[in-house]
Amino acid sequence: MTPLKQDELKHVKKDPIKHNSNGHSLSNREKERKMLYIVGLGLGNEKDITLRGLETVQSCDKVYMEAYTSLLSFGLSPDGLSALEDLYGRSIIVADREMVEEKADSILSEASRSDVAFLVVGDPFGATTHTDLVVRAKKLDVKVKVVHNASVMNAVGVCGLQLYRYGETVSIPFFTDTWRPDSFYEKIKNNRESGLHTLCLLDIRVKEPSLESLARGRKCYEPPKYMTVHTAIEQLLEVEQLRGQNAYDEETKCVGIARLGCEDQMIVAGSMKELLDVNFGAPLHCVVIVGSTHELEEEMLQFYSIKETVGLSGKDSK
Ligand SMILES: C[S@@+](CC[C@H](N)C(=O)[O-])C[C@H]1O[C@@H](n2cnc3c(N)ncnc32)[C@H](O)[C@@H]1O
Repeated sequence: MTPLKQDELKHVKKDPIKHNSNGHSLSNREKERKMLYIVGLGLGNEKDITLRGLETVQSCDKVYMEAYTSLLSFGLSPDGLSALEDLYGRSIIVADREMVEEKADSILSEASRSDVAFLVVGDPFGATTHTDLVVRAKKLDVKVKVVHNASVMNAVGVCGLQLYRYGETVSIPFFTDTWRPDSFYEKIKNNRESGLHTLCLLDIRVKEPSLESLARGRKCYEPPKYMTVHTAIEQLLEVEQLRGQNAYDEETKCVGIARLGCEDQMIVAGSMKELLDVNFGAPLHCVVIVGSTHELEEEMLQFYSIKETVGLSGKDSK
């Protein structure tokens, strides 16, 4: 490719739309190239979409909704989906993990010919998965625009712990009899050594094929499973007992949060041991392990102290 001359560069600055990122003129076909819009839906229900997000969805030829990294308040019951479809005035194709991972290229190829919206609960970049979609799109030269929204990553600030005093976020996967990964332990330990809070995101298992069915060669799916605060703390304590490096213990102060951003959100602060006895109800849940706090943070946590709430025992929600 020949470099642009000085007078051509001036033109690029004035009229960037007619030039690609290398400064070369775009052909008519390229100008008409369509777009993949990744639209954040926010945390509560269908009404948390932004006005820009709504206008984008309504202008797209096809609408997909990612349905495995997060959940709106009503889940993905047929009623929930129709609430979205009614408000947005578009029919929505639910894209599970298999579809996104195996058929991403066909969604992207559609987006090179028509405008495609890909809806994500929370913010598109609140889950690592969607960065992968953007990278693939860029490699295939598919144009991408992102419409942002609230994410658990920022809404967690509601509990009073300052967002800029958090360390690395960790994910806690469901342990099985044979698989008990604990890489979160080291990260929590590092955060706590630096006095930082840790946001723990809890595992979601939606449309996972059962092991027996895989062995039989015919896929059958397990019912959806969402990790509770209770299970997360049980697993955290099990790992501390195994590793024994005093990253935390059952007296460590945490905040359990359920259905953040929904009408019935629940926030309770207490020690790990105390939170084990609190029933946080329906998904989604997350946990913050509290680092060192300053006065204002303590004052806010006080509002959510377990002493103010009544607790029952919590089980994983199915
Ligand atoms: C991959 S992350 C978040 C993805 C989403 N795109 C976002 O930006 O919020 C999913 C995890 O975050 C936590 N989470 C998400 N939304 C939540 C909510 N409304 N209340 C509590 N926890 C939530 C849960 O632990 C859940 O398993």
